[in-house]
Amino acid sequence: MSLPVEGSTVLVTGGAGYIGSHTCLQLLEAGCKVVVVDNLDNSSEESLRRVKELIPGKAENLSFHNCDILDEAGLDKAFAAQKVDAVIHFAGLKAVGESVAKPMRYYSNNIAGTVTLVAAMERAGCKSIIFSSSATVYGEPATVPCTEDFPTAALNPYGRTKLFIEHMLTDLQASDAQWQVVLLRYFNPVGAHPSGRIGEDPKGIPNNLMPFVQQVAVGRRPQLSVYGDDYPTSDGTGKRDYIHVMDLADGHVAALCKVRKDEDCGCITVNLGTGTSTSVLELVNSFAKASGKEIPMQIVARRPGDAAEVYAKTDRALEVLGWSAKNSIEQCCIDQWKWASENPYGYGGPE
Ligand code: UD1
Repeated sequence: MSLPVEGSTVLVTGGAGYIGSHTCLQLLEAGCKVVVVDNLDNSSEESLRRVKELIPGKAENLSFHNCDILDEAGLDKAFAAQKVDAVIHFAGLKAVGESVAKPMRYYSNNIAGTVTLVAAMERAGCKSIIFSSSATVYGEPATVPCTEDFPTAALNPYGRTKLFIEHMLTDLQASDAQWQVVLLRYFNPVGAHPSGRIGEDPKGIPNNLMPFVQQVAVGRRPQLSVYGDDYPTSDGTGKRDYIHVMDLADGHVAALCKVRKDEDCGCITVNLGTGTSTSVLELVNSFAKASGKEIPMQIVARRPGDAAEVYAKTDRALEVLGWSAKNSIEQCCIDQWKWASENPYGYGGPE
């Protein structure tokens, strides 16, 4: 059965990045034409070369513009090359610590970048946008699972940019009913395409747990620091909702189906998570099993701003998008290890 997205043209900002590249692949698979806009700031064009290699029959349906979302003329050029039906907007900076040290870089790239993108969309007559938001907008939730109508909070400049862009796009849609807006709140993306050809390739020291564990397993880092073992959880370590990046990519295809078949969808906010949580120690054990490697670790102090447990309520995703996550944490670790062991330095060489 063909999906209602077949034949659609989608402009994907940040399409060369981790979630972006996996989503491009699934969009091509579903029969879309994909126009990637990426400045390669924290990504590599090699990811797109490999996406094409994974889908040889449809490789010509992917085009790439090396362009910053703050570059008005560059965006106009990318939109002018063909009629764009919808935009999936991944491009943005995402390191919490860096956002505290360099807030203006975050406000400029994330917020001003989105303003510039929306203006270019208006000039091009495209009024459908799917935005990469984050469970970070729940702050430290008072209870779990997190439902989409929980109060929102931002604990750092990065989180504030996600929250502010959500408000901005909501206001935009309220001002003009022709706009379609889907705000996707991701929980913790992990894993890689099962081929091991594409995956996450963070620059420098990874901030997030899974890429750090991966770098310990391949010998790039001596040990993992576990941020606290005195949380009120089953084993004392923090619990999160880890979602396989292929499930996440399929969530974007489902969101695109929604905007393509439901003209009046308005503005929708949807969690993309699994609805279950895994502790740091459980994840490390699962990764050690998948890789056959020992992961040396030490318990250190809690990281400021970390909640004890965060996971998604997933009912709305199923109801509104007909989507749910399929992969277990075991599968996430198996696919993460295939990518890591075959590409220990990501898309590049040793540092
Ligand atoms: C973090 C960000 C969040 C962002 C998300 C995705 C913070 C406070 N939160 O979420 O805003 O949206 O990444 O980029 O930075 N852990 C360790 N050792 C490590 C790394 C992590 O023990 O070296 C633990 C953490 O305490 C947490 C879990 O592993 O319990 C997951 O951490 P992480 O991958 O950074 O994700 P979040 O904290 O959920």
